[in-house]
Amino acid sequence: MDYIVDIKDIVTKFGTTVVHDKISLHVKSGEIYAIVGPSGCGKSTLLRELVALHKPVSGSINILGYNLLNASYKQIQELRKQWGFLFQNGALFSSLSIYDNIALPLMEYTDLSSKFISKMVAYKLDLVGLKDSDGSLFPSEISGGMVKKVALARALALEPRLLFLDEPTSGLDPISAREFDRLLLRLREFLSLSVVMVSHDLHSIRLTADRLAVIDDKHIVVQGSLDDIVNTHTPFINAFFDAYKDKR
Ligand SMILES: Nc1ncnc2c1ncn2[C@@H]1O[C@H](COP(=O)(O)OP(=O)(O)OP(=O)(O)O)[C@@H](O)[C@H]1O
Ligand SMILES: [Mg+2]
Repeated sequence: MDYIVDIKDIVTKFGTTVVHDKISLHVKSGEIYAIVGPSGCGKSTLLRELVALHKPVSGSINILGYNLLNASYKQIQELRKQWGFLFQNGALFSSLSIYDNIALPLMEYTDLSSKFISKMVAYKLDLVGLKDSDGSLFPSEISGGMVKKVALARALALEPRLLFLDEPTSGLDPISAREFDRLLLRLREFLSLSVVMVSHDLHSIRLTADRLAVIDDKHIVVQGSLDDIVNTHTPFINAFFDAYKDKR
């Protein structure tokens, strides 16, 4: 079977510290796939490796049919148009308006006219439930929930097939977080997206994830459905998924 993301035996080190020791996982087309694990276990680092912002020491990453670690600069630039990335803290450019934040990838990676870009930005704002007039605001002038939506609109700017989300609901109140989850499910259907999402939010995982992987102590402890996960017992899984077990 062809996977949209297929990683094998990834080893990551910072200096002498080993963060990942032979991590393997695969994501099927159309899936929402969650990555869970204790703080500092290397979830964000893994996402950064998947979007070619960091190179692991060894292993292989196959993504959208490309062997990422052997890909040329040109191929990686091509791939960047096919995936979107929402950073852990939104990472909006504070000196740019919301409009310009969303327009930036379109200006950087396409030669579309400014008139067309403005239509695309309006469409993306609408897609994530923001108003046209929100485009003129600056990141310091919007709420945390709006930051996430703008970051999502920017990640969707180039109409990617694959979306990487790093803690998309962290810092949101429960109502905004559930709104974000429903938005993600709608967009997955509407845009035929595949999604790889790092999350600490058990509600969000229950509502959106088809499958998940748990990383702990440098390894993938288990990969599968939520039921597969909760039937695996480690101190982290027991503590993290206790709330889920109580509600089943
Ligand atoms: N550029 C870097 N240089 C050195 N160490 C790094 C670098 N980036 C990450 N690390 C280390 O790698 C480990 C994993 O970090 P990472 O940010 O991937 O964790 P995480 O699982 O995303 O944590 P959290 O849940 O808190 O976001 C940490 O020990 C971190 O200090
Ligand atoms: Mg992180």
